[in-house]
Amino acid sequence: MIIRCLLVLCFLGASAALANPLEREMDQARPDARELQRAKQQLEKPSPKGVETRLFVPPFHKRKDAPALSATFCRSCHQQYPHRSNVRKRAFLNMHSRYISCETCHWRPEGKQLTYAWAKVLGSSHAQGMIVPGLKGEQALIMENSPWAHALKQKWEEADGAGRIEIKAKLHHPLRTKGPGCGACHGNEDALLDYGMLGYKPQRARELELNPTARFIERTEPQSASDPVRRIHIRDLLE
Ligand code: HEC
Ligand code: HEC
Ligand code: HEC
Repeated sequence: MIIRCLLVLCFLGASAALANPLEREMDQARPDARELQRAKQQLEKPSPKGVETRLFVPPFHKRKDAPALSATFCRSCHQQYPHRSNVRKRAFLNMHSRYISCETCHWRPEGKQLTYAWAKVLGSSHAQGMIVPGLKGEQALIMENSPWAHALKQKWEEADGAGRIEIKAKLHHPLRTKGPGCGACHGNEDALLDYGMLGYKPQRARELELNPTARFIERTEPQSASDPVRRIHIRDLLE
Protein backbone atom coordinates (compact mmCIF):
# COMPACT_ATOMS: atom_id res chain seq x y z
CA MET A 1 0.00 0.00 0.00
CA ILE A 2 2.76 2.39 1.02
CA ILE A 3 4.70 1.48 -2.09
CA ARG A 4 1.64 2.09 -4.22
CA CYS A 5 1.16 5.51 -2.62
CA LEU A 6 4.79 6.33 -3.24
CA LEU A 7 4.49 5.25 -6.86
CA VAL A 8 1.43 7.44 -7.32
CA LEU A 9 3.23 10.37 -5.71
CA CYS A 10 6.25 9.81 -7.95
CA PHE A 11 4.00 9.66 -10.98
CA LEU A 12 2.18 12.84 -10.01
CA GLY A 13 5.48 14.54 -9.32
CA ALA A 14 6.89 13.44 -12.64
CA SER A 15 3.86 14.54 -14.63
CA ALA A 16 3.82 17.92 -12.86
CA ALA A 17 7.50 18.32 -13.70
CA LEU A 18 6.82 17.41 -17.33
CA ALA A 19 3.97 19.87 -17.68
CA ASN A 20 4.91 23.25 -19.13
CA PRO A 21 3.99 26.51 -17.33
CA LEU A 22 0.72 26.99 -19.22
CA GLU A 23 -0.32 23.37 -18.72
CA ARG A 24 0.29 23.84 -15.00
CA GLU A 25 -1.83 26.99 -14.95
CA MET A 26 -4.62 25.13 -16.71
CA ASP A 27 -4.43 22.24 -14.24
CA GLN A 28 -4.56 24.59 -11.28
CA ALA A 29 -7.23 26.90 -12.71
CA ARG A 30 -10.27 27.61 -10.54
CA PRO A 31 -12.88 28.97 -12.94
CA ASP A 32 -15.63 31.01 -11.27
CA ALA A 33 -19.38 30.56 -11.69
CA ARG A 34 -19.52 33.02 -14.57
CA GLU A 35 -16.85 31.17 -16.54
CA LEU A 36 -18.59 27.84 -15.92
CA GLN A 37 -21.91 29.31 -17.02
CA ARG A 38 -20.32 30.63 -20.20
CA ALA A 39 -18.68 27.29 -20.94
CA LYS A 40 -22.04 25.59 -20.35
CA GLN A 41 -23.76 27.84 -22.87
CA GLN A 42 -20.96 27.41 -25.39
CA LEU A 43 -20.91 23.64 -25.17
CA GLU A 44 -24.67 23.19 -25.07
CA LYS A 45 -25.32 25.60 -27.88
CA PRO A 46 -22.20 25.95 -30.00
CA SER A 47 -22.28 29.20 -31.92
CA PRO A 48 -21.71 29.00 -35.65
CA LYS A 49 -18.70 31.25 -35.06
CA GLY A 50 -17.06 28.94 -32.55
CA VAL A 51 -15.42 25.58 -32.93
CA GLU A 52 -17.10 24.03 -35.94
CA THR A 53 -15.31 20.78 -36.18
CA ARG A 54 -16.16 18.12 -33.60
CA LEU A 55 -13.86 18.50 -30.65
CA PHE A 56 -10.68 16.48 -31.04
CA VAL A 57 -12.06 14.63 -34.04
CA PRO A 58 -11.90 16.80 -37.14
CA PRO A 59 -13.75 15.42 -40.16
CA PHE A 60 -11.57 13.69 -42.74
CA HIS A 61 -11.88 16.28 -45.45
CA LYS A 62 -10.77 19.02 -43.10
CA ARG A 63 -7.67 17.10 -42.09
CA LYS A 64 -6.35 17.46 -45.59
CA ASP A 65 -6.58 21.25 -45.48
CA ALA A 66 -4.21 21.56 -42.57
CA PRO A 67 -2.14 18.46 -42.25
CA ALA A 68 0.78 19.56 -40.13
CA LEU A 69 -0.46 22.54 -38.16
CA SER A 70 -3.11 20.48 -36.43
CA ALA A 71 -0.20 19.23 -34.33
CA THR A 72 -0.69 22.06 -31.85
CA PHE A 73 -3.03 21.46 -28.93
CA CYS A 74 -5.34 24.43 -29.54
CA ARG A 75 -6.02 23.19 -33.04
CA SER A 76 -7.21 19.84 -31.79
CA CYS A 77 -10.47 21.70 -31.07
CA HIS A 78 -10.18 24.98 -32.93
CA GLN A 79 -10.20 25.36 -36.65
CA GLN A 80 -7.33 26.15 -38.92
CA TYR A 81 -8.68 29.71 -39.15
CA PRO A 82 -10.18 30.36 -35.71
CA HIS A 83 -10.77 34.10 -36.11
CA ARG A 84 -14.08 35.09 -37.58
CA SER A 85 -15.89 37.72 -35.57
CA ASN A 86 -13.67 40.72 -36.26
CA VAL A 87 -14.21 41.18 -39.96
CA ARG A 88 -11.50 43.81 -40.38
CA LYS A 89 -8.82 41.88 -38.55
CA ARG A 90 -9.60 38.23 -39.02
CA ALA A 91 -7.58 37.66 -42.20
CA PHE A 92 -4.51 39.16 -40.51
CA LEU A 93 -5.03 37.21 -37.30
CA ASN A 94 -5.46 33.95 -39.16
CA MET A 95 -2.39 34.69 -41.29
CA HIS A 96 -0.37 35.36 -38.12
CA SER A 97 -1.61 32.15 -36.54
CA ARG A 98 0.51 30.23 -39.02
CA TYR A 99 3.72 31.54 -37.50
CA ILE A 100 2.75 32.98 -34.13
CA SER A 101 1.44 30.40 -31.67
CA CYS A 102 -2.01 30.88 -30.17
CA GLU A 103 -0.33 31.00 -26.76
CA THR A 104 1.72 34.08 -27.73
CA CYS A 105 -1.40 36.18 -28.23
CA HIS A 106 -3.85 34.53 -25.84
CA TRP A 107 -1.65 33.70 -22.84
CA ARG A 108 -0.35 36.90 -21.36
CA PRO A 109 -0.52 36.39 -17.59
CA GLU A 110 -0.28 39.57 -15.57
CA GLY A 111 2.80 40.12 -13.48
CA LYS A 112 4.83 37.41 -15.21
CA GLN A 113 7.79 38.24 -17.40
CA LEU A 114 7.45 36.14 -20.53
CA THR A 115 10.08 35.83 -23.22
CA TYR A 116 9.47 34.91 -26.84
CA ALA A 117 11.49 32.66 -29.12
CA TRP A 118 11.12 30.68 -32.32
CA ALA A 119 10.23 27.01 -32.07
CA LYS A 120 10.31 24.51 -34.90
CA VAL A 121 6.73 23.53 -35.65
CA LEU A 122 5.96 21.38 -38.65
CA GLY A 123 3.63 23.08 -41.08
CA SER A 124 4.35 26.65 -40.04
CA SER A 125 4.40 29.03 -42.99
CA HIS A 126 7.58 30.67 -41.66
CA ALA A 127 11.09 29.34 -42.23
CA GLN A 128 11.92 29.89 -38.54
CA GLY A 129 8.86 28.02 -37.26
CA MET A 130 6.61 29.71 -34.75
CA ILE A 131 6.98 32.41 -32.13
CA VAL A 132 6.15 30.90 -28.75
CA PRO A 133 6.16 32.30 -25.22
CA GLY A 134 8.39 31.02 -22.46
CA LEU A 135 8.52 31.50 -18.71
CA LYS A 136 11.79 31.15 -16.85
CA GLY A 137 13.33 29.22 -19.71
CA GLU A 138 10.38 26.84 -20.16
CA GLN A 139 8.45 27.03 -23.42
CA ALA A 140 4.69 27.26 -23.08
CA LEU A 141 3.67 25.90 -26.46
CA ILE A 142 1.39 22.88 -26.05
CA MET A 143 1.68 20.24 -28.72
CA GLU A 144 -1.14 17.82 -29.40
CA ASN A 145 1.09 14.80 -28.82
CA SER A 146 2.48 15.94 -25.45
CA PRO A 147 1.81 13.56 -22.54
CA TRP A 148 -0.25 16.28 -20.86
CA ALA A 149 -2.43 16.79 -23.97
CA HIS A 150 -2.91 13.02 -24.33
CA ALA A 151 -4.06 12.77 -20.72
CA LEU A 152 -6.41 15.69 -21.19
CA LYS A 153 -7.88 14.25 -24.35
CA GLN A 154 -8.62 11.03 -22.52
CA LYS A 155 -10.25 12.92 -19.65
CA TRP A 156 -12.38 14.81 -22.17
CA GLU A 157 -13.49 11.64 -23.90
CA GLU A 158 -14.49 10.04 -20.61
CA ALA A 159 -16.18 13.15 -19.18
CA ASP A 160 -19.93 13.72 -19.12
CA GLY A 161 -21.56 17.07 -19.92
CA ALA A 162 -20.66 18.71 -16.60
CA GLY A 163 -17.11 17.34 -16.78
CA ARG A 164 -16.56 18.83 -20.20
CA ILE A 165 -17.91 22.19 -19.10
CA GLU A 166 -15.35 22.19 -16.32
CA ILE A 167 -12.53 21.17 -18.66
CA LYS A 168 -13.39 23.91 -21.16
CA ALA A 169 -13.54 26.50 -18.38
CA LYS A 170 -10.23 25.36 -16.84
CA LEU A 171 -8.42 25.33 -20.17
CA HIS A 172 -9.53 28.85 -20.98
CA HIS A 173 -9.20 30.35 -17.50
CA PRO A 174 -5.55 31.42 -17.98
CA LEU A 175 -6.24 32.65 -21.53
CA ARG A 176 -7.47 36.01 -22.73
CA THR A 177 -10.59 36.08 -24.84
CA LYS A 178 -8.99 38.68 -27.06
CA GLY A 179 -5.42 38.83 -28.23
CA PRO A 180 -3.33 42.00 -28.26
CA GLY A 181 -4.03 44.83 -30.68
CA CYS A 182 -1.90 45.13 -33.81
CA GLY A 183 0.00 47.99 -32.16
CA ALA A 184 1.43 45.64 -29.52
CA CYS A 185 3.77 44.27 -32.18
CA HIS A 186 3.58 46.98 -34.82
CA GLY A 187 4.07 50.11 -32.77
CA ASN A 188 6.81 52.02 -31.06
CA GLU A 189 5.90 51.55 -27.44
CA ASP A 190 5.18 48.71 -25.04
CA ALA A 191 6.30 46.20 -27.63
CA LEU A 192 5.20 42.67 -26.87
CA LEU A 193 7.97 41.10 -28.95
CA ASP A 194 11.64 41.97 -28.88
CA TYR A 195 12.49 41.71 -32.57
CA GLY A 196 16.23 41.81 -31.92
CA MET A 197 16.02 38.80 -29.58
CA LEU A 198 14.00 36.98 -32.24
CA GLY A 199 16.87 37.47 -34.66
CA TYR A 200 15.44 40.20 -36.90
CA LYS A 201 17.95 42.66 -38.33
CA PRO A 202 17.43 46.24 -37.06
CA GLN A 203 16.14 47.43 -40.45
CA ARG A 204 13.52 44.65 -40.63
CA ALA A 205 12.56 45.22 -36.99
CA ARG A 206 11.95 48.88 -37.74
CA GLU A 207 9.87 47.94 -40.80
CA LEU A 208 7.70 45.69 -38.68
CA GLU A 209 7.29 48.32 -35.98
CA LEU A 210 6.22 50.91 -38.51
CA ASN A 211 4.16 48.61 -40.73
CA PRO A 212 1.58 50.98 -42.24
CA THR A 213 -1.14 48.38 -42.77
CA ALA A 214 -1.05 47.23 -39.16
CA ARG A 215 -0.97 50.79 -37.88
CA PHE A 216 -3.88 51.79 -40.08
CA ILE A 217 -5.99 48.82 -38.98
CA GLU A 218 -5.26 49.65 -35.35
CA ARG A 219 -5.84 53.40 -35.67
CA THR A 220 -9.21 52.98 -37.36
CA GLU A 221 -10.57 50.18 -35.15
CA PRO A 222 -14.26 51.07 -34.56
CA GLN A 223 -14.78 51.87 -30.88
CA SER A 224 -18.45 50.94 -30.91
CA ALA A 225 -20.88 49.12 -33.13
CA SER A 226 -22.23 52.43 -34.45
CA ASP A 227 -18.82 53.69 -35.62
CA PRO A 228 -18.53 53.80 -39.39
CA VAL A 229 -16.19 51.18 -40.84
CA ARG A 230 -13.22 52.84 -42.57
CA ARG A 231 -11.91 51.12 -45.61
CA ILE A 232 -8.26 51.18 -46.60
CA HIS A 233 -7.32 53.60 -49.36
CA ILE A 234 -3.84 53.76 -50.79
CA ARG A 235 -3.40 57.28 -49.44
CA ASP A 236 -3.94 56.00 -45.88
CA LEU A 237 -0.99 53.69 -46.28
CA LEU A 238 1.19 56.52 -47.49
CA GLU A 239 0.40 58.82 -44.56
C1 HEC B 1 -11.17 20.75 -25.59
C2 HEC B 1 -11.31 21.61 -26.72
C3 HEC B 1 -10.60 22.93 -26.73
C4 HEC B 1 -9.23 23.13 -26.68
C5 HEC B 1 -8.14 22.09 -26.58
C6 HEC B 1 -9.03 24.57 -26.78
N1 HEC B 1 -10.24 25.21 -26.91
FE1 HEC B 1 -10.52 27.22 -27.06
N2 HEC B 1 -12.56 26.93 -27.04
C7 HEC B 1 -13.18 25.69 -27.03
C8 HEC B 1 -14.62 25.89 -27.04
C9 HEC B 1 -15.68 24.81 -27.04
C10 HEC B 1 -14.83 27.30 -27.08
C11 HEC B 1 -16.16 28.05 -27.15
C12 HEC B 1 -16.45 28.34 -28.59
C13 HEC B 1 -17.80 29.05 -28.76
O1 HEC B 1 -18.82 28.39 -28.70
O2 HEC B 1 -17.78 30.27 -28.95
C14 HEC B 1 -13.50 27.92 -27.06
C15 HEC B 1 -13.29 29.29 -27.06
C16 HEC B 1 -12.04 29.90 -27.12
C17 HEC B 1 -11.80 31.33 -27.13
C18 HEC B 1 -12.87 32.42 -27.03
C19 HEC B 1 -13.02 32.84 -25.58
C20 HEC B 1 -13.65 31.79 -24.69
O3 HEC B 1 -13.04 31.42 -23.67
O4 HEC B 1 -14.76 31.31 -24.96
C21 HEC B 1 -10.44 31.52 -27.24
C22 HEC B 1 -9.69 32.84 -27.28
C23 HEC B 1 -9.83 30.20 -27.27
N3 HEC B 1 -10.82 29.24 -27.20
C24 HEC B 1 -8.48 29.96 -27.37
C25 HEC B 1 -7.88 28.72 -27.22
C26 HEC B 1 -6.44 28.50 -27.18
C27 HEC B 1 -5.40 29.60 -27.32
C28 HEC B 1 -6.25 27.17 -26.99
C29 HEC B 1 -4.94 26.44 -26.81
C30 HEC B 1 -4.08 26.89 -25.74
C31 HEC B 1 -7.56 26.54 -26.93
N4 HEC B 1 -8.52 27.50 -27.06
C32 HEC B 1 -7.78 25.17 -26.76
C33 HEC B 1 -12.58 24.46 -26.98
C34 HEC B 1 -11.22 24.24 -26.89
C1 HEC C 1 -1.44 37.72 -33.56
C2 HEC C 1 -2.21 37.45 -32.38
C3 HEC C 1 -3.14 36.27 -32.35
C4 HEC C 1 -2.83 34.94 -32.59
C5 HEC C 1 -1.51 34.34 -33.04
C6 HEC C 1 -4.02 34.19 -32.29
N1 HEC C 1 -5.03 35.03 -31.90
FE1 HEC C 1 -6.93 34.50 -31.44
N2 HEC C 1 -7.46 36.47 -31.23
C7 HEC C 1 -6.59 37.54 -31.36
C8 HEC C 1 -7.35 38.78 -31.22
C9 HEC C 1 -6.79 40.19 -31.32
C10 HEC C 1 -8.70 38.41 -31.01
C11 HEC C 1 -9.89 39.35 -30.80
C12 HEC C 1 -10.47 39.75 -32.15
C13 HEC C 1 -11.57 40.79 -31.94
O1 HEC C 1 -12.71 40.37 -31.73
O2 HEC C 1 -11.25 41.97 -31.95
C14 HEC C 1 -8.74 36.95 -31.01
C15 HEC C 1 -9.90 36.19 -30.84
C16 HEC C 1 -9.94 34.81 -30.82
C17 HEC C 1 -11.14 34.00 -30.65
C18 HEC C 1 -12.56 34.54 -30.48
C19 HEC C 1 -13.39 34.29 -31.73
C20 HEC C 1 -13.19 35.19 -32.91
O3 HEC C 1 -13.85 34.95 -33.94
O4 HEC C 1 -12.42 36.16 -32.87
C21 HEC C 1 -10.75 32.69 -30.67
C22 HEC C 1 -11.65 31.46 -30.55
C23 HEC C 1 -9.32 32.65 -30.89
N3 HEC C 1 -8.86 33.96 -30.99
C24 HEC C 1 -8.57 31.50 -30.95
C25 HEC C 1 -7.23 31.46 -31.37
C26 HEC C 1 -6.51 30.24 -31.65
C27 HEC C 1 -7.06 28.84 -31.47
C28 HEC C 1 -5.27 30.61 -32.08
C29 HEC C 1 -4.16 29.73 -32.58
C30 HEC C 1 -4.49 28.84 -33.72
C31 HEC C 1 -5.20 32.06 -32.05
N4 HEC C 1 -6.42 32.53 -31.62
C32 HEC C 1 -4.10 32.81 -32.40
C33 HEC C 1 -5.24 37.46 -31.59
C34 HEC C 1 -4.53 36.32 -31.92
C1 HEC D 1 2.20 39.08 -31.35
C2 HEC D 1 2.75 40.05 -32.27
C3 HEC D 1 1.93 40.50 -33.45
C4 HEC D 1 0.65 41.01 -33.45
C5 HEC D 1 -0.31 41.18 -32.29
C6 HEC D 1 0.39 41.41 -34.82
N1 HEC D 1 1.48 41.13 -35.60
FE1 HEC D 1 1.66 41.50 -37.60
N2 HEC D 1 3.47 40.57 -37.62
C7 HEC D 1 4.14 40.09 -36.51
C8 HEC D 1 5.40 39.52 -36.94
C9 HEC D 1 6.44 38.87 -36.03
C10 HEC D 1 5.47 39.67 -38.33
C11 HEC D 1 6.60 39.28 -39.27
C12 HEC D 1 6.74 37.83 -39.54
C13 HEC D 1 7.88 37.63 -40.51
O1 HEC D 1 7.67 37.80 -41.70
O2 HEC D 1 8.99 37.30 -40.05
C14 HEC D 1 4.24 40.35 -38.73
C15 HEC D 1 3.93 40.72 -40.03
C16 HEC D 1 2.84 41.47 -40.40
C17 HEC D 1 2.59 41.97 -41.74
C18 HEC D 1 3.51 41.76 -42.92
C19 HEC D 1 4.56 42.84 -42.87
C20 HEC D 1 5.81 42.52 -43.57
O3 HEC D 1 6.60 43.47 -43.76
O4 HEC D 1 6.09 41.37 -43.89
C21 HEC D 1 1.41 42.69 -41.70
C22 HEC D 1 0.75 43.44 -42.86
C23 HEC D 1 0.92 42.62 -40.35
N3 HEC D 1 1.80 41.86 -39.58
C24 HEC D 1 -0.25 43.18 -39.92
C25 HEC D 1 -0.80 43.01 -38.65
C26 HEC D 1 -2.13 43.45 -38.26
C27 HEC D 1 -3.11 44.18 -39.16
C28 HEC D 1 -2.28 43.09 -36.94
C29 HEC D 1 -3.49 43.25 -36.06
C30 HEC D 1 -4.72 42.64 -36.57
C31 HEC D 1 -1.04 42.45 -36.52
N4 HEC D 1 -0.17 42.40 -37.58
C32 HEC D 1 -0.80 41.96 -35.25
C33 HEC D 1 3.70 40.15 -35.22
C34 HEC D 1 2.44 40.57 -34.81
